[in-house]
Amino acid sequence: MTHAHITTWVVALILFVVAISFQAKGHEKTKMVHMLLRLFYILIIATGAWILHSMSSFPFLYIVKVIVGLWVIGTMEMILVRTAKGKNTNVLWLQFIVAFVVVLYLGFKLPFGFSFFS
Ligand code: HEM
Repeated sequence: MTHAHITTWVVALILFVVAISFQAKGHEKTKMVHMLLRLFYILIIATGAWILHSMSSFPFLYIVKVIVGLWVIGTMEMILVRTAKGKNTNVLWLQFIVAFVVVLYLGFKLPFGFSFFS
């Protein structure tokens, strides 16, 4: 099930890159890709919740992992919405990169699935 979770966020990341480049070109399919990306936000949360569902207790790092995971999703959404409005997104990009690195570190450190950092 961690594989399903990884698949959803990798697809979301690809859709995010596609949406950003479509948006920059003013491509007509930008809205569609953005809607698909939103569907993948739900799938990321659903597969994350699915992993949590199999656990009997929630150690502190899991709570941090979930919050930072939601933070990554929040920054992706806000980058796309604010770019569409022509607003500055530098701070959001910084947050996205930091949160993404932290969530990868925590995900791969925590015991389920791959554990590269423990
Ligand atoms: C874009 C956002 C997210 C990214 C990039 C991400 C990334 C990861 C990665 C790399 C793993 C490790 C998988 C493995 O070791 O096989 C993982 C595991 C996990 N994720 Fe996420 N995640 C995100 C969002 C979420 C959300 C929103 C939730 C909660 C609803 C969540 C809950 C979990 C749980 C419970 C695990 C298992 C941790 C463990 O290895 O013990 N994730 N995630």
